[in-house]
Amino acid sequence: MFLSIILLLSVSCWVLIYLIGRNNENYWRKRGVKFHNKHKVAGIFGEVFTSDKPIFKVAENIYKQYCDEPAVGLGGFLTPTLLVRDETNLQHIFQTDFQSFNHRGVETSKGDLLADNLLFMRGNRWKLMRQSMTPMFTSAKLKKMFYIMDKSGKDFISYLKHNPERLNGNAYDSLTTFCCAAIGASVFGVVSESVFESPFLKVARRVVKQTFRNNLKAAILNFSPWLAKTLNIKLFSNYEDFFIGAVKRMIRQREKEHGQSHDFVDICVNLQKNGTLKDRETGLVLVPTDELLSGQAFFFFLAGVEPSATALMACLLQLGKHPDHLEKLHKEIDMVHDKLNGKLTFESVMEMEYLDKVLCESVRILPPVGLLVRQCVKNTVLPTGNIKIDEGTKIFAPVYAMHNDPKYFPNPDVFDPERFASESTYNGHMYMPFGKGNRLCIGNRFAQLQVKTGLIYFLRNFTVKTIIDGDEFKYNKKQGQVRPCNADVKFIPRKITGL
Ligand code: HEM
Repeated sequence: MFLSIILLLSVSCWVLIYLIGRNNENYWRKRGVKFHNKHKVAGIFGEVFTSDKPIFKVAENIYKQYCDEPAVGLGGFLTPTLLVRDETNLQHIFQTDFQSFNHRGVETSKGDLLADNLLFMRGNRWKLMRQSMTPMFTSAKLKKMFYIMDKSGKDFISYLKHNPERLNGNAYDSLTTFCCAAIGASVFGVVSESVFESPFLKVARRVVKQTFRNNLKAAILNFSPWLAKTLNIKLFSNYEDFFIGAVKRMIRQREKEHGQSHDFVDICVNLQKNGTLKDRETGLVLVPTDELLSGQAFFFFLAGVEPSATALMACLLQLGKHPDHLEKLHKEIDMVHDKLNGKLTFESVMEMEYLDKVLCESVRILPPVGLLVRQCVKNTVLPTGNIKIDEGTKIFAPVYAMHNDPKYFPNPDVFDPERFASESTYNGHMYMPFGKGNRLCIGNRFAQLQVKTGLIYFLRNFTVKTIIDGDEFKYNKKQGQVRPCNADVKFIPRKITGL
């Protein structure tokens, strides 16, 4: 009897899987879209699970396999899922028809306080929160914040000099320490050197660790909001006491000090002083509670550590492989240093042309976020191929594949910062290391300033050498971000005077 039940259940499961797969395939075939047959049910996630490739590499394989198609249908359990490869369609999704694609497609649970942040918010709540946070990232604000980055850069060099074991191997780990100091100080105003041993960094590392549990939670939140709700899945509940507690303490302290540190805590104090946030168009009101503001701070903090350190690592990996470009950048940095007597300014960082080109080209080849996601919130049609898109459809944009496609970036494997000599020398529509459209990374300019300041201090004091195991970069399937797992950077002290 027991065996018969097991047998019946397994047969039902297989029939269900078969029917879902067939349904996914027919769904796209009926719309005239080619369907990627591998893993008809779980799609791209199924392929990641059963191969040794990370998600952006799986997406690249599909992108290359269907080179004449504007888009490819994928399995997505019960969610119609499409990998879009055509330039006009991508522009349509990110910019022209933003109203139909303004959601990122992850539904978080109501009580998941730290997940209630800009990345996951949707609709008018997202719009209002984005408007309220934008003032933190204006040029004027970044200029005022520059002293924080500058101090983090100087402190980090002195930290490296006192901890020479940090110079040989595990460069990424050292870079996260610098990024944590810079974002930590900008968000919370923490400016003591102790940030290099910060408990915040431990939290940031734990949160982004790809464990089976974290991946399962993310998969359920991605593909079954119903199940996520039923199981009350929370992404970050373990960190609430620590993080919200810290933000609360800092806001209360700043209220007493009446100081102007030009950091995130200042913004929080001002938002709370002004009362509620209100969207004039829709009348929507949000109360800037400590919890809501902690959610924003939490994501700024995560974003300021991992992706920023990955971008810095991308630059150093390329420079350590290309001594001619490294020498050119060293010259630019030394020239600015000498001109300013070692006193770096916001303006001088922004004016360093070669530094800018090196960063642009490094995150072209290795964009930290290799795959972007949107979800359709209103039935619409994609122009190339006249593809009907229903509300709820998930869209993948394979950024890593696009950035390395010779159609858009000739000789994509060649590290050539001069591609970015001007806006007319590269394809801006297909270049999106910070995303595109209204949901573009809000910390885009902050991150660039952070990475550039870090590079200036590192390269003023060290030269770098890339060590690769093998001929080309390899990636670990567990890594969400585009960061080679077989390469490291060695820091070699330069003979210079002053920082
Ligand atoms: C080099 C470092 C960084 C990279 C490569 C990066 C990249 C990205 C990308 C690709 C997105 C998705 C954009 C889209 O879907 O169109 C994003 C979103 C976001 N990033 Fe960043 N980011 C970086 C650093 C930062 C920093 C330092 C902050 C905050 C201080 C930040 C805050 C955000 C936020 C809040 C969002 C969600 C925006 C929204 O949906 O409105 N990022 N980032």
